[in-house]
Amino acid sequence: MKFDVFTLFPEVLETYLHTSIMQRARARGLLEVNLHNIRDWATDKHHVTDDTPYGGGGGMVMKPEPIFAAVEGVLGVPPSCPVILLTPQGQCLTQNKAKDLARRSSHFALISGRYEGVDERVRQHLVTDEISIGDYVLTGGELPALVLMDVLARLIPGVLGDPLAAEQDSHATGLLEYPHYTRPPEFRGWEVPEILRSGHHARIERWRREQSLLRTWRRRPEMLENVELTEEEREFLGRQERGDEG
Ligand code: ADE
Repeated sequence: MKFDVFTLFPEVLETYLHTSIMQRARARGLLEVNLHNIRDWATDKHHVTDDTPYGGGGGMVMKPEPIFAAVEGVLGVPPSCPVILLTPQGQCLTQNKAKDLARRSSHFALISGRYEGVDERVRQHLVTDEISIGDYVLTGGELPALVLMDVLARLIPGVLGDPLAAEQDSHATGLLEYPHYTRPPEFRGWEVPEILRSGHHARIERWRREQSLLRTWRRRPEMLENVELTEEEREFLGRQERGDEG
């Protein structure tokens, strides 16, 4: 998968892309990330990339010319891949949204905005998709670009060491993940559940599924509306609801 990221602060993204799984994916050729500084495409003497808003009001707006010049200079006219603007006004990023994007293309341009936002003509005539990473406002789109690249990178076969890990993730199954434990078996008197040490795989699988269901029901009950449950699982949750168990 390939990303071309357009930002005023490429250095913000560098460290993360040089760390751990992202670094390994790049080294193995599974992921390619090219960082482009929008300022390099500003043609005036001071390389100005923002200006005051028409109509008045506070804040600055990112000018259209350097953004168009950067994206079209790198990706052609029209750009050869989807162009995603990271903005709190975009569609909310979910695991399903990430899967849809990954199915649609293996190459994306990401534009990270700063200041009050970007000139509307960028949205109208350059951008194909707008993505938000949540209902809060950050100071810029750099962290959201990293979040989007990270979630998409994890979906590339071979990026994660364990091929089953992505399938079992919270949200990938439509449920929150079950609790994980590692050694030691007892820490400060808190014990690892006996069943996980039993070596009884079928019972462990069942316990994990029940823990996932329980956790989802307690923390994110609305997620259960989109999950197909067996009769047995419905009964299990029914018993929890009535307080028969747990
Ligand atoms: N830029 C600022 N806040 C953002 C958010 N929540 N998602 C995407 N881009 C943003």
